[in-house]
Amino acid sequence: MPESFDVIVIGAGPGGYVCALRAAQLGMRVACVEKRETLGGTCLNVGCIPSKALLQSSEHVEEARHKLADHGVVLNGEVRFDLARMLARKDEVVAANVKGVEFLFRKNKVTWLKGEGRILSPGRVAVNGETYETRHIVVATGSESIPLPGVEVDERRIVTSTGGLELDRVPGHLVVIGGGYIGLELGSVWRRLGAEVTVVEFLDRIVPGMDGEVGKAFERILTKQGLKFCLKTKVTGARAGNEGVTLTLEPAAGGPAEELRADVVLVAIGRRPYTGGLGLDAAGVALDERGRVRVDAHYATNVPGIWAIGDVIAGPMLAHKAEEEGVAVAERIAGQAGHVNYEAIPGVVYTWPEVASVGRTEEQLKEEGVAYKAGKFPFTANGRARAMGDTDGFVKILADAATDRILGAHIIGPDAGTLIAELALAIEFGASAEDVARTSHAHPSLSEAVKEAALAVAGRALHI
Ligand code: FAD
Ligand code: NAI
Repeated sequence: MPESFDVIVIGAGPGGYVCALRAAQLGMRVACVEKRETLGGTCLNVGCIPSKALLQSSEHVEEARHKLADHGVVLNGEVRFDLARMLARKDEVVAANVKGVEFLFRKNKVTWLKGEGRILSPGRVAVNGETYETRHIVVATGSESIPLPGVEVDERRIVTSTGGLELDRVPGHLVVIGGGYIGLELGSVWRRLGAEVTVVEFLDRIVPGMDGEVGKAFERILTKQGLKFCLKTKVTGARAGNEGVTLTLEPAAGGPAEELRADVVLVAIGRRPYTGGLGLDAAGVALDERGRVRVDAHYATNVPGIWAIGDVIAGPMLAHKAEEEGVAVAERIAGQAGHVNYEAIPGVVYTWPEVASVGRTEEQLKEEGVAYKAGKFPFTANGRARAMGDTDGFVKILADAATDRILGAHIIGPDAGTLIAELALAIEFGASAEDVARTSHAHPSLSEAVKEAALAVAGRALHI
């Protein structure tokens, strides 16, 4: 008799492992299949966690070199850093995190099936030649980076984010293709460590989904920090040699080509769903036009008993989005009413300053013809930001013109990624700008900029 479960989750990233934990909490017999050596998926192994470790380390270098003197902290001699130690620390941080997921599996009695999972039919999954039976299958196989034709990745000179987290020496010139989340975070890491960094972006702006005003301010600040941007430009080819890589660039709209030399090229033009070898075809699971598993509002595919969540389905490719879906689908399977509010999913770029947003952008509201009011407050007028010496950026809150309900919030500034949580909660609770404006915020704190932006929605900010 094959071993049987209530739920088999395929993929142990933030979507899959959280789904497995929640299903176990709800009393189900759960297994999670993972083909990587360690649990945690892209996020913990080669994504969120290692990138944040390097962002933190490189920001310390930046502070030591450029910020501490202003605070009267005198360092004797040149600030040096040990890249090997920095990379080793990053690996230690990753190891501690992935071990943490193993511990959580043991604690919740989730069985880790090691190997590649393949769906044989609804209710049957094969792993390493063994067949397992289950009432439900949850596909949480994540995503992989999109290749760029003509730019062959070798993870040494031409790298994806995975290679870009492991460079064993600081490149003289790093060319990043794609001015999105990965390009700007990893571009910032290597710029802080001394690389010249050029970002080649196809569109006329960086981080395209983000509020336009924030995007412009972000580009200005990153340019001031030393990043170079070639917007409206496409890369049409790459030649790798001993001396580095020569890229061919063309204007996005067509025109004369030019060459750009790089020591390392980072390809970061987006990610695509990963479903290779999974057997979705044979099981009859439908995909959409972009290769994502098609699901209904409750994460059910067209095949009864097969569900899907995370990067492999539509929506923003973010770890916390995958986690929320993991919880919701486990609850649905248990007959409960699990649900995700996509209006209240924050997005954060962990550069310095950070950039964070939740809900609608100004461009979206205009396009949808929604009448809105905007309130804005700059960090230059916030006492805590001044004390920190981090006054770049602002908070912007967009509220419905008639009801005052908060529709979107956008922050560029110190700790924006933490500040946005308050506004995600506000949106989740259907709060008005006035609700936030009348809430007492500790003084002196960065969060007062949020309160002031909420006051500004009604034209009554106090400190500007
Ligand atoms: P994944 O994390 O990709 O996990 C899927 C897992 O399934 C993988 O471990 C894979 O090995 C396994 N798998 C696939 N097929 C099979 C199979 N057939 N059998 C067994 N196992 C299989 N998001 C954020 O919110 N914040 C960040 O700061 C952030 N930083 C990022 C930085 C980088 C460099 C990258 C690349 C991504 C980052 N992301 C970040 C995105 C985040 O990593 C993803 O949104 C998240 O990991 C998606 O979770 P998931 O569970 O859907 O898939
Ligand atoms: P992205 O979608 O964020 O950005 C890709 C960029 O490349 C876009 O600006 C796009 O216009 C541009 N582009 C596309 N094709 C191009 C081409 N041929 N030439 C030049 N530019 C081109 O994708 P990215 O940065 O690869 O990251 C993938 C995903 O991973 C993100 O969308 C995000 O969901 C997730 N992520 C999240 C992070 C976070 O939450 N802090 C950090 C890193 C990744």
